[in-house]
Amino acid sequence: MERNTCVILALDVTDRKEAIRIAEDVREFVDAIKVGYPLILATGLRIIRELAEFAPIIADFKVADIPNTNRLICEQVFEAGADAVIVQGFTGRDSLDACIEVASEYRKDVFVVSEMSHPGGAEFMQPVAEAIAKMAAEAGAFGLVAPATRPERVKRIRKLIGDKLTIISPGVGAQGGKASDVIAAGADWVIVGRSIYKAESPKEAACEIAAEIEAELRGE
Ligand code: XMP
Repeated sequence: MERNTCVILALDVTDRKEAIRIAEDVREFVDAIKVGYPLILATGLRIIRELAEFAPIIADFKVADIPNTNRLICEQVFEAGADAVIVQGFTGRDSLDACIEVASEYRKDVFVVSEMSHPGGAEFMQPVAEAIAKMAAEAGAFGLVAPATRPERVKRIRKLIGDKLTIISPGVGAQGGKASDVIAAGADWVIVGRSIYKAESPKEAACEIAAEIEAELRGE
């Protein structure tokens, strides 16, 4: 995944035509499109190939099962044309290894959730987030998912893992996080859903977030 705008669109709409229209509209301002259960359950797995025309696709299935089932899920995701998959880390090293093995067979990437961005993410996941981050680095994952709603946690995780892993960070906009803050804290990409796809002009909204990040990276 190339890092240009540092913005990943979370495309959680449930209408195929709307998804394609938004993807086409914002393509110059996003480095990837994240698709998950809402869009895929509504439209089918083939939406992945349709959207891959516009940007690399991250399949957010938060895979969290035993190794064999994880393997079967990841095979389906990559066969469908996704460039990366998001998996949970709390299921343990063997479950994560199964995902990473399949990803390497397909030359694709795995992102591991360390701590989720919503308030409940601090209840059970935050206490084990650093152990999950370390495990993800040792297992050879490509990146982590860390919360834009808590930039101080992104900073802590970045310090812990150094440059070994990339960090993608959801929670900007609708959940209260600010793109420039989380990039300053050490995230490589922000993930933005509602603030882009629900905007009157998704293109302008994506452009503004990309500009905010660019200014932060220039040190303005
Ligand atoms: P909004 O509309 O809040 O959408 O900008 C955020 C998107 O990101 C997903 N999400 C997460 N995914 N770990 C994840 O793997 C998280 O902590 C997390 N928080 C939000 C959410 O499902 C939506 O697609």
